[in-house]
Amino acid sequence: MTETVLLVGGGGREHAIARAVDDSADTELYACASNRNPGIASLAEGFSEIDETDADAIVDYAEEVGATLAAIGPESALNAGVADALDAAGVYAFGPQEAEARIETDKAFQREFMAEHDVPGCPDFATFEDPEEAADYIRQYDGDLAIKPRGLTGGKGVRVIGDQITEAEGIEYVLDSDYEEFVLEERLVGEEFTIQAFVADGQYRVTPAVQDHKRAYEGDEGPNTGGMGSYSDATFELPFMTEADYTESVEVIDAVVEAMPDYKGILYGQFMLTAEGPKVVEFNARFGDPEAMNTLPVLDTDFVSILQAARDGEELPELTFSNQATVCKYAVPDGYPTDPEAGAKIKIDEESAGDALLFYASVDAREDGIYTTTSRSFAVVGLADTITGAEAIAEEALGKAGEEGLRVRHDIGKADLLQQRIDHMNELREE
Ligand code: AMP
Ligand code: GLY
Repeated sequence: MTETVLLVGGGGREHAIARAVDDSADTELYACASNRNPGIASLAEGFSEIDETDADAIVDYAEEVGATLAAIGPESALNAGVADALDAAGVYAFGPQEAEARIETDKAFQREFMAEHDVPGCPDFATFEDPEEAADYIRQYDGDLAIKPRGLTGGKGVRVIGDQITEAEGIEYVLDSDYEEFVLEERLVGEEFTIQAFVADGQYRVTPAVQDHKRAYEGDEGPNTGGMGSYSDATFELPFMTEADYTESVEVIDAVVEAMPDYKGILYGQFMLTAEGPKVVEFNARFGDPEAMNTLPVLDTDFVSILQAARDGEELPELTFSNQATVCKYAVPDGYPTDPEAGAKIKIDEESAGDALLFYASVDAREDGIYTTTSRSFAVVGLADTITGAEAIAEEALGKAGEEGLRVRHDIGKADLLQQRIDHMNELREE
């Protein structure tokens, strides 16, 4: 039987999901998002411009196209109860309902859930509903703290004392920002990485670890962004971690799945590999963006068959991967993220990207071409036997895209940055 899959979301992550659906057997893809992503639109039978948080309109569209499955990309949709609404309408949504998505959308809930269920890897934390009390806690705390607004901030709300800001700036931040409720937690020091798992019916299947680069500029300088690019290796681990580190992280995912039997969709664990082993920075309730662009192109298992098994209450298939390394680099508009300048014409397309894969993100498709907006524009992904080989493929594609109006972190995936990560971890372990 042909599956009719409705994809919600219009970023680079969703373009990667669209390709994975398109590569699956016997599927028809429809998509909806607030922006018309030309890469998704070219793969889909239909594309409707609907806000990702408009649950009623998404259900109407799902019914109109006869969707038999839905894949939800962004957290904003999960937070708005889009999975609940689709499930209620009889369209199985691969994405958690609002209550389970709180593991991402409510950082106080997330830490309290970990503590209550003895999920390993939880840093010391405290939650606050009053900025004055949060400020007092910062004043008297012995050590550096990470300051997290309780709700969703698009990856841009966290401030880390001793990293980006001083203690005085941290106090000012809790007192003067627009946020009222905070989680304050022990600053974790180490190397960050992500493991994404397919989850349904108390089962899970993990994918290779990925490292994202949140800082805007080369050398990990500048403000946090949604993610400037990411890499994965030909194995499940990354060069700075051991197999035991990976296995220990999977135990965290195991504990979450056990404590949340109704969870379905992607569970994304963001870890800090510290000298004491992996600790949890956060969970997300969806694929990462950019991380989906590393993971889905190397997934050999038919993507839709995983969603079908989830929906039908069957055993999830064992996943197989192509054992290739990947490097993903985003091209963003000049000035991103603080002062982005939109309107540059994009000179690369899926054909001219050569050996690299091209994924569109927030772009404006006009009659005479595709232009940048104020958010991340497009990503190129190289696949090869080694990370440095994949990096070279991504760079070759970027060379064709030109630099006008765009900025890229060329350092992502380069051998010297990889070596710095390994040295950093070795230093921490020796201390
Ligand atoms: P989040 O929005 O929770 O992913 O946080 C954004 C970024 O803040 C993370 O990717 C980390 O780099 C940093 N961060 C969050 N929590 C901590 C922590 N406890 N210690 C150190 N850095 C953190
Ligand atoms: N790349 C980080 C995220 O998707 O939240």
